[in-house]
Amino acid sequence: MVFLNSNVAILRLCEKSLKVREIISAEHIGIFAADPNSIAKAEGIGSRLSLPVINVRDAKPLILEVSNTHVSLVYTAPKSPGATLVDFVGGKMGYRSKNSGFKDQDIIKACGIKKGMRPTILDATAGLGRDGFILASTGCKVTLVERNPIIALLLEDGIKRASEVTQTADIAANITFHNCNSVKFINAIISMDMPEVIYLDPMYPHRTKSSLVKKEMRALRDVVGDDFDSDDLLTAALQKASKRVVVKRPKGAEYLADKKPSMSFDGKSTRFDVYFVG
Ligand SMILES: C[S@@+](CC[C@H](N)C(=O)[O-])C[C@H]1O[C@@H](n2cnc3c(N)ncnc32)[C@H](O)[C@@H]1O
Repeated sequence: MVFLNSNVAILRLCEKSLKVREIISAEHIGIFAADPNSIAKAEGIGSRLSLPVINVRDAKPLILEVSNTHVSLVYTAPKSPGATLVDFVGGKMGYRSKNSGFKDQDIIKACGIKKGMRPTILDATAGLGRDGFILASTGCKVTLVERNPIIALLLEDGIKRASEVTQTADIAANITFHNCNSVKFINAIISMDMPEVIYLDPMYPHRTKSSLVKKEMRALRDVVGDDFDSDDLLTAALQKASKRVVVKRPKGAEYLADKKPSMSFDGKSTRFDVYFVG
């Protein structure tokens, strides 16, 4: 069964110590219903992902815990980090609490969003949707594409909840989501549908402890692994964006595909490389 990166049906799971990295197979993940009312929903998710529904919570090292309201990714080992879920309403991404800071962020400037300019954006590496949600919160129409089915499920769940809450419904309405490979998606774009901006934030092969500190980043890295086709993504994006391609990289990282950007925005830990096209 292939459900992670295209041809890699393995999941890297960090056990109790960050130093202990174990390679385990996809069969170590289960779907768990948090309460009896959520069993039907859990079974639906199990059949969508071709993963078993389990009755004992810690029968697998990693579970998708399903309740009537949420889906979260949970490590069941003792002392594991907390659940990872997509929450655009509360939590760190809580829209109204954070919104005031969004407008000055480098991501906004790199994408060319300013007064009177709300470009259409394709975020081709949607992940847990944090960047996409920031972009959509400015009023831009944003298409999110994510290929990993587990990450896609978490993201869809977060977008759905955001669409049901008054504070975030208008932002969720700016978002369209697709669960597929972006290289194929981008290559299939016809000229009248070209987005003005294509935004890329592929996984960067970190190997250090510090990259595993944030639980969302750890979950993403464990489930997704490395992205091996980032250069292809840039090549495709440069053909199909009508104004610019923006690539998010860690500060000091080499350019994607060794291609020098037109300009960069350098932040404390992140850099946004901008490629003007057309
Ligand atoms: C670093 S994460 C993106 C995080 C995201 N910017 C956010 O704010 O949450 C990279 C994501 O891009 C996805 N990805 C990478 N290459 C892709 C491709 N060719 N097609 C679709 N998704 C891709 C990975 O599966 C992963 O979930």
